[in-house]
Amino acid sequence: MLLRDANDEVVAVCDASWNQLYPDRMFQRLTGVARHWRGKGLAKGVKAIMLQLVRERHPEVVMAVTQNAEVNAPMLAINRQLGFAAHRHDGAYQIGTESLRAFLSTRPLAVPEARA
Ligand SMILES: CC(C)(COP(=O)(O)OP(=O)(O)OC[C@H]1O[C@@H](n2cnc3c(N)ncnc32)[C@H](O)[C@@H]1OP(=O)(O)O)[C@@H](O)C(=O)NCCC(=O)NCCS
Repeated sequence: MLLRDANDEVVAVCDASWNQLYPDRMFQRLTGVARHWRGKGLAKGVKAIMLQLVRERHPEVVMAVTQNAEVNAPMLAINRQLGFAAHRHDGAYQIGTESLRAFLSTRPLAVPEARA
């Protein structure tokens, strides 16, 4: 779904997919709103219209699956309002190069054995 203004500039996008392996579910993917259009309800609008279209075109779909970063407060707010509920929490972990260097400096360097 693509929403454009009177000058044909892209205002909002909403992407979803479906495949016949899982006919009962749709996968809600990227939703994005151009910066100066944010905070006006457009993301909620395009997501709601997308869900309506899926309902019309694929009445067999009974579940919508999406992923939401916990730090993305606007998208979390929208998804809660639409009725999404957390099913599983995945973690993404990072380590800085300084911490990694400090850790590696505490262990001997493994040198692969030479083969004859
Ligand atoms: C996420 C995004 C699509 C939201 O677009 P938007 O048009 O501004 O969203 P809406 O105006 O429809 O709704 C935003 C809601 O979030 C709420 N919100 C905004 N900031 C918030 C915060 N810090 N904490 C809690 N709620 C917040 C707003 O109050 C609003 O809810 P309300 O209408 O009930 O008040 C937009 O910020 C964006 O394009 N971000 C970059 C792309 C992205 O992260 N996409 C999501 C991953 S796919």
